[in-house]
Amino acid sequence: MPTVSLMHKNLKFELEEGEILFDALDNQGEKLPHGCLAGSCGACRIEITEGAENLKPASAIERDTIEAISENYEKRNGPGSLEARTIRLSCRARVLGDVSIKPLK
Ligand code: FES
Repeated sequence: MPTVSLMHKNLKFELEEGEILFDALDNQGEKLPHGCLAGSCGACRIEITEGAENLKPASAIERDTIEAISENYEKRNGPGSLEARTIRLSCRARVLGDVSIKPLK
């Protein structure tokens, strides 16, 4: 069973392979920041601190939203501020193996 570690809370959850990250944690009582739950607002953005390769590749809508988030984030925080970080949307990301995450503000 894959595990998701919440680095900002020092918590770890087990979930079923293929589950959507947000839904799996919500079902266990852990609410991540969110908005539309449809992949278009970006409110559920998270940084994958370990195990990015253990997520199913992002869909087209998730990629488009992450691209827009990244542009806005770098406008606020400077060019290159997201460099080397892996950003995903918790409402879209399907977990295939162990990952560590933290919400991205
Ligand atoms: S909650 Fe809107 S993109 Fe995930």
